[in-house]
Amino acid sequence: MEYTEQVMDHFMHPRNVGEIENASGVGMVGNAKCGDIMKMYIKVENDVIVDVKFKTFGCGAAIATSSKATEIVKGMTIDEALKVTNKMVAESLGGLPPVKIHCSVLAEEALHAAIQDYKDKLERGENPDEVPSEEPEEIKFV
Ligand code: FES
Repeated sequence: MEYTEQVMDHFMHPRNVGEIENASGVGMVGNAKCGDIMKMYIKVENDVIVDVKFKTFGCGAAIATSSKATEIVKGMTIDEALKVTNKMVAESLGGLPPVKIHCSVLAEEALHAAIQDYKDKLERGENPDEVPSEEPEEIKFV
């Protein structure tokens, strides 16, 4: 199976690449199969993801699915964003070759990790806008 036009478009012109200063949450995960790494930053206001950016040391399929995932979740509430799966992202790009499905898991897991970071701050009674997200010390491989 070839890459779809949508996958190629997001790979060649990825959306929302970069970092967010003073992010509400940051998540970083690694892909256990290939060792590639994905980092996701979210800015949350009133429970809504108002901005999201990613950086990756990953392949084209990881770049394309992360780019698409950031477009999908921007403007969603935290709960809505948690329901977005790698499968939905891959389908919205017209599908991925089966051997590349594992690459799309990075976006989903990094987003979940960023949301968890945000939630952890809230649970600790911290204001996520005032407490900068730490660089994750350990990479969780998924
Ligand atoms: Fe590693 Fe795609 S080959 S994320």
